[in-house]
Amino acid sequence: MIFTQLNPGSCRTYLIADEKSKEAVLVDPVLEHVQDYLKMIEQQKLTLTHVIDTHTHADHISGGATLKDQLKCEYVMHAKAPARCVTFHLTDGFECRLGNMPVKVLSTPGHTRDSVSLILSDRVLTGDVLFLDDAGAGRTDLPGGDPGEHWDSLQRILALPDHLVVYPAHEYRNRQPSTLKQQKQRNPNLQPRSKQVYIDYLEGLKLGPAEWMKDVLKANYACARDPKAAWIPVDVPACEVKGTMEQGANDQLVDGIPPDQVKRALEGGNPPLLLDVRDPEELTGELGHIVGVRNIPVTALAQRLREFDDLRDREIISVCKSGGRAHTAAQILMQAGFPKVHVMVGGMTAWKQAGYPTASK
Ligand SMILES: [Fe+2]
Repeated sequence: MIFTQLNPGSCRTYLIADEKSKEAVLVDPVLEHVQDYLKMIEQQKLTLTHVIDTHTHADHISGGATLKDQLKCEYVMHAKAPARCVTFHLTDGFECRLGNMPVKVLSTPGHTRDSVSLILSDRVLTGDVLFLDDAGAGRTDLPGGDPGEHWDSLQRILALPDHLVVYPAHEYRNRQPSTLKQQKQRNPNLQPRSKQVYIDYLEGLKLGPAEWMKDVLKANYACARDPKAAWIPVDVPACEVKGTMEQGANDQLVDGIPPDQVKRALEGGNPPLLLDVRDPEELTGELGHIVGVRNIPVTALAQRLREFDDLRDREIISVCKSGGRAHTAAQILMQAGFPKVHVMVGGMTAWKQAGYPTASK
């Protein structure tokens, strides 16, 4: 069996293919990466028979409709999915084969009404119903979400064999897939408690607003083929409860440093590492960059943490355009155990307003 995780960012798309027949399915494809998928399918001489969305996504536009148009494959979702472009509807317990490999569908609503998990012989694709380790699970406060249904779904997942390795639809901080047995120990959403206690726990979370996510849901309900059909912020941990807590609930750990202090620190004897987490083209754009920065886009940071292995004792100051992405980057670094991480308040916009020097090449 070929099983590959495809995207560079936090949305996980899985290619599952049979080596012999070359038949393939894509699970949770992202519209903006469709050209990459098409190239890969051609290079590997695969036949894409199905695209499957584990649920209606709220953080990205699905590539399902576009792939169906271009490759004439089936577009598969749960029977409760509202998107009209879906050509094949799943129900709980549906079984099929991909080559020699049996695949079983488990209906797991809670994050959305149409959420499914896909059970293979050695792994389970959980969509946003279950994430890895302390990431817990997808939020249940979006349209179609239901904490009680989520608890029921988790009980069904808990009843699956312990050896199955969990592959979620998102991973924001480079956590590695591990077995359901390990998730039972590590994942806060799988800890034993009554249904009512679980519902109270979810309803008590101080989640940030998600208006833009409602627009993305609507775009997916309408089978959007245009990446601009809804505004989506740069790769933020939008689906993860931990990453969507209201300001103050989990943000107090990252200290901000104003630009004048950053400038003084850079001129001092033991300068911090300045990490610019914008996209490379932004560094040569209008705002330029601070001389000496290291540039790693926030979308790639989790995959490139090894580059920081020898910098654990050094102060790291994270910078972006105005502070949002830098904050996410700082949290990723802190999550990975870096003790001295700060964010430059106001980002490059504030640095430039203060009249401090920048470079643009
Ligand atoms: Fe989701």
